[in-house]
Amino acid sequence: MIEAHNVHRSYTLAKKEIEVLKGIDLRIEAGEKIFLCGPSGAGKTTLMYTLAGLENPHQGKVLIDGTDFYGLSSANQARLRNEKIGYIFQNYFLLPELTAIENVLVPGLIGGKSDHEAAKRALERVGLANRVDHLPAELSGGEQQRVAIARALVNSPSIIFADEPTGNLDTGNSDEVMKILLEVVAEQNATLVVVTHNSALSRHGDRIFTIKDGMIADD
Ligand SMILES: Nc1ncnc2c1ncn2[C@@H]1O[C@H](COP(=O)(O)OP(=O)(O)O)[C@@H](O)[C@H]1O
Ligand SMILES: [Mg+2]
Repeated sequence: MIEAHNVHRSYTLAKKEIEVLKGIDLRIEAGEKIFLCGPSGAGKTTLMYTLAGLENPHQGKVLIDGTDFYGLSSANQARLRNEKIGYIFQNYFLLPELTAIENVLVPGLIGGKSDHEAAKRALERVGLANRVDHLPAELSGGEQQRVAIARALVNSPSIIFADEPTGNLDTGNSDEVMKILLEVVAEQNATLVVVTHNSALSRHGDRIFTIKDGMIADD
């Protein structure tokens, strides 16, 4: 379960402060699939980072399974993130010098339980059994995104965040990636929070949150 209470976040650029999140309140139940929509620059990525424990709110709280996440020490934050959260970043964010399987091994290395077999199974699960030793540059966009999904899922997280997972893909690849993501989330009974501009995709969700003027409209 994820809760946000009065979450505020702003950025200061050239001495000008932009208030991006202006008091977000939300509650996402375990196992729910939430689609997060809103125009470019609305703060979707900022909100995802904040909910996923990657970026401190300036005010307010984020509770993950009842724990006040940002109240934890940074070591405990890192441990909880590694155990519970899978994150699929906007633009894949694969490490360019590592092969597909090495990229998938990264969360395990951080958590101190690197499991080569699990990494291989995760790549097989996303249909990349024959691409394990390829570098990101040797993979298509859809394949890179599938590596990113395998990396996010390899630790069997209970909460998965996906920031515009199909944003850079053509329709065929986009449908394929979304199908795999939803299947794996269902297999693992995970909670899913997805940012998308594609309203056809958001019908797969339980609820749609729209972010506008720094606030959530739940519809
Ligand atoms: N690191 C940063 N420094 C300054 N401004 C930022 C930074 N990250 C995001 N912003 C600004 O915050 C706003 C929200 O960004 P973002 O959360 O990425 O929006 P979205 O994902 O909805 O497109 C934008 O106006 C963006 O320019
Ligand atoms: Mg974004």
